[in-house]
Amino acid sequence: MKGLILSGGRGTRLRPITYTSAKQLIPVANRPILYYGLEAIRASGIRDVGIVVGETHAEIKAAVGDGRRFGVKVTYLHQPEPLGLAHAVLVAEKFLAEKPFVMYLGDNLIKSGIQPLVQEFRLKKPNAMILLAHVPNPSHFGVAELKNGRVVRLTEKPKRPKTDLALVGVYMFDRHVFQAAKAIRPSFRGELEITDAIQWLVDRGYRVVPHVVEGWWKDTGRVEDILEANRMVLDTLESRIQGRVDKKSRVQFKVVIEKGARVVRSVIRGPAIIGEGSLIQDSYIGPFTSIDRGCRIERAEIEHSIVLAQSTLRDIPQRIEDSLIGRDVVISRSGGRPSVLRFMVGDASRVELA
Ligand code: TTP
Repeated sequence: MKGLILSGGRGTRLRPITYTSAKQLIPVANRPILYYGLEAIRASGIRDVGIVVGETHAEIKAAVGDGRRFGVKVTYLHQPEPLGLAHAVLVAEKFLAEKPFVMYLGDNLIKSGIQPLVQEFRLKKPNAMILLAHVPNPSHFGVAELKNGRVVRLTEKPKRPKTDLALVGVYMFDRHVFQAAKAIRPSFRGELEITDAIQWLVDRGYRVVPHVVEGWWKDTGRVEDILEANRMVLDTLESRIQGRVDKKSRVQFKVVIEKGARVVRSVIRGPAIIGEGSLIQDSYIGPFTSIDRGCRIERAEIEHSIVLAQSTLRDIPQRIEDSLIGRDVVISRSGGRPSVLRFMVGDASRVELA
């Protein structure tokens, strides 16, 4: 069996971060989301993995390389335009060479991994298997209707959902999916939808079976979702202090301080992670916060947030929360007169002042 990870797409809902960076590389607990997917695929016993890439191909290649680090062999497959998930399957047709495969959306996180799903697929040998989860707000997702252990209907974001079973970003297919992806037409948003391809299989009597996941999963399409994923992953961390913490600081609950990081006269209340070479001085880092490599946090308070590499927060008069702060960002207080706010903020940014 082969693996296919989708890491193209536009990531419009995560602008401005995605103007300069692939959304699959946004760190959760200081590791790119994509790494969790690669590890899940490897843990299910698959070694041969194709990664569909688009505009951000160079960055993805630099982060993943040939895959050896993850115990897999990676082949990059270029999708010229993000024309939909079923289009990505067609881009991978030659690589997949009619073998059954698992398709994993590169911005998804699934706590329980995909091993049970892959095992069940190998055993039952259906034409397709889809991962489903009970959700409180099904109208935001693709929703499945089941009958006698089979999928009978898939509806994309229905106004009146018939079930609470949402499609999770992992699918398994045999070679019939190529026929389906070639037969369907683009949707109103101009994309070849994977739900349409699966419905095509259902309508022609192919066996499409569901697998309901227990435990949490997250599609990290929006900032709120990334913060939630970060919360979930940080909660599973084991404490590890490899950096330096001075006597005047307090480190409470589950905290990781990577080597070369320094904590001076500060409180770190976990679960939290402080990346390599970062400095936390006269500050408070609250629960569910990830501070990446080479950051400087001085006289500031922050919680339930993610700060990407090499950023600075200095002399901030109020606590920062629920924030995703990009790379090389500086937020500081000048203290000069007149007392004014001064911004240099990229397109599609959001700044909220109390
Ligand atoms: P989506 O989140 O559905 O799409 P997107 O990444 O374009 O984001 P937005 O809606 O905010 O603009 O994509 C799910 C995953 O599949 C994601 O990892 C990107 C990937 N993808 C492709 O590789 N090719 C495609 O054509 C599309 C639509 C998505």
